[in-house]
Amino acid sequence: MFKITVLPGDGIGPEVTAGALRVLRAVQKRTGVEFVTREALFGGGAYDQTGTPLPEETLRQCLDSDAVLLGAVGGPKWDNLPVHLRPEAGALLPLRKKLEVYANIRPSVVFSSLADASTLKREVVEGLDIVVVRELTGGLYFGAKRREELSEGGVRVVETLEYTTGEIERVARVAFELARKRRKKLTSVDKANVLESSRLWREVVSGLAGAYPDVELNHMLVDNCAMQLVRNPRQFDVLVTENMFGDILSDQASQLTGSIGMLPSASLGGKVGLYEPIHGSAPDIAGQNMANPIATILSVAMMLRYSFSLDDAAGLVEQAVNTVLEEGYRTADIMQPGMRPVGTMEMAELVAEKVEKS
Ligand code: IPM
Ligand code: MG
Repeated sequence: MFKITVLPGDGIGPEVTAGALRVLRAVQKRTGVEFVTREALFGGGAYDQTGTPLPEETLRQCLDSDAVLLGAVGGPKWDNLPVHLRPEAGALLPLRKKLEVYANIRPSVVFSSLADASTLKREVVEGLDIVVVRELTGGLYFGAKRREELSEGGVRVVETLEYTTGEIERVARVAFELARKRRKKLTSVDKANVLESSRLWREVVSGLAGAYPDVELNHMLVDNCAMQLVRNPRQFDVLVTENMFGDILSDQASQLTGSIGMLPSASLGGKVGLYEPIHGSAPDIAGQNMANPIATILSVAMMLRYSFSLDDAAGLVEQAVNTVLEEGYRTADIMQPGMRPVGTMEMAELVAEKVEKS
């Protein structure tokens, strides 16, 4: 029996998590493994109801579960609140920190049936299968910040970028281990020609290479990496990088697959894993049964694999998604001429039925 805390959050979050839970029920039926799920308030909705985007009770419940499934948070309604009450800075970042999930795994896989949905040419993206490992609990996101009025007029801001050897080493190890189970190629991304933090990053990652002689390590500057990702993305296998670079490069990598609506993520390293689609709350399409639930469904697959070691069950879910796409079903974000349009819940239902019948 596994205990899962579900944080539906804001915008399309409740719809995509409902779809993913439908698929989880199918996995339970198919495998006999029991999943006990319990929702908790998180994000803008939690602020509206309790005055804080991350209620104590939610945090306690997350820490007391085997895994956490998160939809998305945020929206224009909460954008003007003081920073510490906003869903992103007041809930999502502290949750990551409190769960100590320092390694964020973001795979970008192009399903062959979707190779034409990418804005890049089919021959550039077909067969793409890369993973960005993003450091998630350090760097600019969590460094001290200051804003001061200047006597001569204007404002001065300070953001602090801090990393320790230990913080770099632990996430680099996750990336080496992952590369070892894949095509054994690791690219560490930094800005070592300018930043001291990047020079330490490079030193520490290089220092680990000897412990992973089977993995081929190379270093790449982040600007070049951004270019290489659209020029020839299949040169990569696993990428590892600090928090901010990882945020940017993982959005870019996601678009290679056709839609950010396809991409799951797993945040690991602490006692409890956190699983979330990499897309945001998309308030413009919320409540319309339009959002693509596949990113959240594939996040459940990652949960099965990484938190529960149910590799076969994870494979069933991934295979079911693949089959439904092969059969031509598409949500609006990946719609192409001649395909069969479906809404959020229909897409989830189709995947769930495949899992049950597999
Ligand atoms: C992500 C998001 C978040 C981040 C935002 C919502 C704070 O963009 O998970 O990539 O920057 O980490
Ligand atoms: Mg992001």
